[in-house]
Amino acid sequence: MTNFSIIAAVDQKLGLGKDGRLAWHLPEDLKYFHRITRTTEDPVLENAVIMGHRTWESLPPKARPLAGRINCVISTSSELDLPDGVLQFDSLDEALTALATSDRVEQVFVIGGATLYAEAILHPDLERIYLTRIEADYECDVFFPEKIPEDFEIVSATETMESDGLEYSMVVLEREVDHSKDQFFEFGHEDNGADAEN
Ligand SMILES: NC(=O)c1ccc[n+]([C@@H]2O[C@H](COP(=O)([O-])OP(=O)(O)OC[C@H]3O[C@@H](n4cnc5c(N)ncnc54)[C@H](OP(=O)(O)O)[C@@H]3O)[C@@H](O)[C@H]2O)c1
Repeated sequence: MTNFSIIAAVDQKLGLGKDGRLAWHLPEDLKYFHRITRTTEDPVLENAVIMGHRTWESLPPKARPLAGRINCVISTSSELDLPDGVLQFDSLDEALTALATSDRVEQVFVIGGATLYAEAILHPDLERIYLTRIEADYECDVFFPEKIPEDFEIVSATETMESDGLEYSMVVLEREVDHSKDQFFEFGHEDNGADAEN
């Protein structure tokens, strides 16, 4: 398998979306998502994005597949009609194993939704989490996992920014090598540094 990152945007209750869609419009986050998931050090290589079936369906037809990235859709359905070049896998592990053997892939990102994040957050090969935190409550119906393994630490955090009245910040967490993997911190707990800004 291969090490991978999660990238997600959450509201103040860790909400991810509502009625099968994102609940907000934040162009700055879309640009950030594009930059993080598309940029490679080696111009010959591409990054891969792994998403659940419902997240694939939620993308506007014009926007999918996500350009310049290897699109992978996780689904147990045998009837998916995916465009040429879009890969389908039965499970996250199957996708990670296949991508690990490819010499075309630089980085791998799990891009949602809630079902896939719930599995990915507990995966031993998860090494980095990119979280955009939006300071509003959108009464979402799907949520990012509340518990992040405790051996993740915040390595960077932007100051709070504002766009069209919406406050948001970007946080990056990475797995520390030496910590025990069987403890968890609650997201948003005061002592864990999750709200740190610099
Ligand atoms: N805020 C964000 O950053 C963000 C990012 C992405 C998505 N979203 C939002 O999240 C919502 C969609 O999330 P969701 O949880 O409903 O759906 P999802 O995770 O995108 O897709 C769920 C489907 O994917 C397949 N799947 C997912 N995990 C699997 C696994 N481990 N093994 C096998 N199959 C798996 C299954 O498809 P089959 O039933 O076909 O087997 C499952 O029904 C939408 O509202 C979307 O807008 C938000």
